[in-house]
Amino acid sequence: MDAIKMNAQAANRIRGHHRAMAEDLTQRVDAYVLTLEQGEPMAAGRDSLVQHINQVILPHARGEEETIYARAAEPRFGVLALVQDMKKEHGQLEGLTGQLKAATSGVRAMRAAGAIEEVFRSHAGRENDLLLPVLEAAPEVNLTALLEEMHRTTEAPQPSPLSDADVTIDVRLIPHTMRHTTIFALVDRLAIGQALVIEVDHDPLPLRYQLDATHGDQMSWTYLQEGPDAWRVEIRRREAVGV
Ligand SMILES: [Fe+2]
Ligand SMILES: [Fe+2]
Repeated sequence: MDAIKMNAQAANRIRGHHRAMAEDLTQRVDAYVLTLEQGEPMAAGRDSLVQHINQVILPHARGEEETIYARAAEPRFGVLALVQDMKKEHGQLEGLTGQLKAATSGVRAMRAAGAIEEVFRSHAGRENDLLLPVLEAAPEVNLTALLEEMHRTTEAPQPSPLSDADVTIDVRLIPHTMRHTTIFALVDRLAIGQALVIEVDHDPLPLRYQLDATHGDQMSWTYLQEGPDAWRVEIRRREAVGV
């Protein structure tokens, strides 16, 4: 496959990951609104939202600054101003997360959470539509390698494996807002060759995009059952990580 096609595939993995992150964030913010509406204390939901942003969104931003942004900032691409602007938006996300953390009322927390969601969505859109195409079109850029490097900078150290046996979970039993976090926590604990089998009532494509973007070639994805009422997917940690 030629360099441009490889780059297009890598760029689409990043776009898929952005989509999954945005959907996940929206679900979490919506779930938080619901808890506030039901009169639950504002702090617990606020803190778990802050934790999610600190563990997922801000590391993603730092990872891309060190890899994709650094490459795009080279003068020959002519998008330095855009890259600087995008970095400022990362700073905005960080500032808003600080505001969310410090919020003293549900109304203030919601205001910050809504702003984070809005900034993230428009920021990811600009990354998809303005920044990625520049790198995608340059045959001398290896976007796949940059993406792998980005994972290395953002991934937490691997905890110990669960056990030698494969693990099966019924995703339908996990509350919606916790699904991806729970699955990723299990995936990260898989030993080489070990698999996690997930059972769910729809085709878990957003999860696949997110897994592709965050774990790339480390994991295989195999449908054991594809509908109509249930989907079963085997996610296995590969023996050898790609070159
Ligand atoms: Fe970004
Ligand atoms: Fe991004």
